[in-house]
Amino acid sequence: MNNILITGGLGYIGSHTASILAKNNIRFLILDNLSNCKFSVIERLEKIINKKVCFIEGDIRDTNKLKAIFQKHDISSVLHFAALKSVEDSLFEPTKYYETNISGTISLLNAMKITKVRNLVFSSSATVYGQPKYLPIDEMHRTEAINPYGISKFIVEEILSDLVKHDNTWSINSLRYFNPVGAHPSHLIGDDPISTKSKNLMPNIIDVVNGITKEIKIFGNDYDTKDGTCIRDYIHIMDLANAHYKSLQFLEKSKGFNIFNIGTGRGYSVLELINTFEDTTGIKVPKCFVNRRDGDVQSCYADPTKAREKLGWHSELDLRQMCLSSFEFSRLNL
Ligand code: NAD
Ligand code: WQD
Repeated sequence: MNNILITGGLGYIGSHTASILAKNNIRFLILDNLSNCKFSVIERLEKIINKKVCFIEGDIRDTNKLKAIFQKHDISSVLHFAALKSVEDSLFEPTKYYETNISGTISLLNAMKITKVRNLVFSSSATVYGQPKYLPIDEMHRTEAINPYGISKFIVEEILSDLVKHDNTWSINSLRYFNPVGAHPSHLIGDDPISTKSKNLMPNIIDVVNGITKEIKIFGNDYDTKDGTCIRDYIHIMDLANAHYKSLQFLEKSKGFNIFNIGTGRGYSVLELINTFEDTTGIKVPKCFVNRRDGDVQSCYADPTKAREKLGWHSELDLRQMCLSSFEFSRLNL
């Protein structure tokens, strides 16, 4: 493998993936516009991988800059993480989401096309499935995104699929992530965004532990599940990062467009996650039940068989490890 371009590589998933590439002696270059990450991630990543990180500040919508990067740095594949990711925010500012997530990706694809870089891993989301029709969800499940963020991911997948139909020299994987949680074992990097808009469950638990909020609000306890709270497929960030390494290997020996679910295949309820957090850390998390959150689906978990069979990937770390590493990262850094 030559050099890999990681767009959005200073963000949560990109930075952990960069650490996995380094561990496997793969060279990479990070492009990020710093809109939702801290500059200090570079230093932390350098400590983890014990070498300098090649970083370029820039925006994926700047096609000329991307072209210049591809020409100068002998890039063979792209891991494309850069995007805006708040479902709630996307309802208020849909055009901002379409501009970054769709136009930004088109800009990247144009630069790749001109410079003949043909391997791409795209960060998609289980959110494209909308309300599940059956569980576990496999990749054949129909898509029905219900918010601008999800629609932006769906549209990009359509674009990628069309691109490959038209030109079979491309090799593209779209990874539909379920619910990433946890931090790097060094606890130097973790989920530490700049934007505080609509945080996920684990960052909200951490806010309670750190005294930023008084209690965790559980959105609904009247769902038709074992304890009345929603069920999700939480996946350890290091397992998720590893799926990108496996994807890069797959792209080298395949052509075409492939979609993969990246989840554990196991669903846990909100209460089970909080109980596991309390149990592993020994810290009580005050909680209260509030109304259901608009747009939440009752249960969502993956059938990850395709990723296991084609990528040779499967998750290894469990919910306890997700809780513990999230807690340790926050204790040492936040
Ligand atoms: P993140 O916000 O932590 O990382 C994204 C990075 O992209 C940030 O460092 C940000 O500064 C950068 N960025 C944003 N817009 C950019 C632009 N126009 N040009 C260059 N850089 C830009 O998000 P994350 O959690 O690491 O998510 C990575 C990808 O995975 C995103 O595409 C997201 O939609 C997708 N995803 C995330 C989750 C999740 O729960 N975290 C789940 C499913 C899919
Ligand atoms: C998990 C569960 C909440 C916070 C989102 C995006 C999805 C993907 C991953 C990007 C739900 C409950 C949450 C809280 C709670 N991101 N909850 N109290 O909604 O499954 O997925 O992140 O692609 O697109 O939609 O994740 O962590 O917000 O919620 O009770 O304070 O926790 O109702 O059941 P979600 P989440």
